[in-house]
Amino acid sequence: MAFHMKNHGIEIAPSVLAADLTRLGEQVRLVEEAGATVIHFDVMDGHFVPNISMGVPVLASLRKATSLCLDVHLMIERPGEFVEAFVDAGADRLLIHAEATPHLNRILEQVHELKTEAGVAINPATPVAMLIEVLDMVDTVLVMSVNPGFGGQSFIPGALGKIRELKELRARYDCAYRIEVDGGVGPENVVDLVQAGADTLVAGTSIFHAADPAAAMRQMQQMAHESLTRKV
Ligand code: DX5
Ligand code: ZN
Repeated sequence: MAFHMKNHGIEIAPSVLAADLTRLGEQVRLVEEAGATVIHFDVMDGHFVPNISMGVPVLASLRKATSLCLDVHLMIERPGEFVEAFVDAGADRLLIHAEATPHLNRILEQVHELKTEAGVAINPATPVAMLIEVLDMVDTVLVMSVNPGFGGQSFIPGALGKIRELKELRARYDCAYRIEVDGGVGPENVVDLVQAGADTLVAGTSIFHAADPAAAMRQMQQMAHESLTRKV
C-alpha cells in the first residue's frame, strides 16, 4: 500500500549533483533558506548510467547536515541490494528505475517495509504503460526528461506527454503518487511542467550554476505557485 500523499503542493527539489560538493552543507542551507523542502540526491554506478556520482557515505554526511526530505535517485544496477544501505544512510524517498530490475514490485515492497517512501523512475525511452502494475503501490513516479547520467542536458519535450498521462491514470485508478520530473528543468519550462501535472520538479544546473542560487530557487517556486493558482 502506498503511503497517503502528503499535500506539500508543488516542490522544487534542488539536485546537489550540480552543487559545489566541497561545501555541500552550506549549499543545502542556502536553498533551504530560499524555501526548499526537498533535496534531490543522484546515485550513479557507472553501469546503469555512463557516469559515477555519489553514494552512501556522502548521503550519510548530508543527513547530518540537514533535516530536509532527502529524495534519493538510484541510477544503479541491482538496486535491491542497496536499498537498506541508503535507508540507513538517511534517505526519506528512494527512487528505483523500472529498467534496472526485473523485480520492481519486490523492491518497492522492500522499501516500504523499511518505512521509507518508494518511487519508480523511467528513462525517456520507457513508456508509462510499463508501470501500470505498480502505480497503486508507489509514492512517486519520476519521469526522466533527459537520459540519466549527467547534469546540464537539454529537456526532452516528450516528458510532458508522460506527465499528462500519469495525471490521468492517477485520477482513473484513484492512486496517490506524486509526479516528479528530472532533467533540464529551469525557469523556461516550469510553467508547462506544472500545468501538465508535475508535483516535484528537480533542478540542478538551473539552481546551483545560477549566479544567485537562492534567487533562482525562489523564482522557480514563485512561477510554479503562480501557474498552479492560474490553472484552477
Ligand atoms: C541526471 C540526474 C539529474 C540531474 C539533473 O541524470 O538524474 O537529477 O542532477 O540536472 P539538471 O537539472 O542540470 O538537468
Ligand atoms: Zn536525478
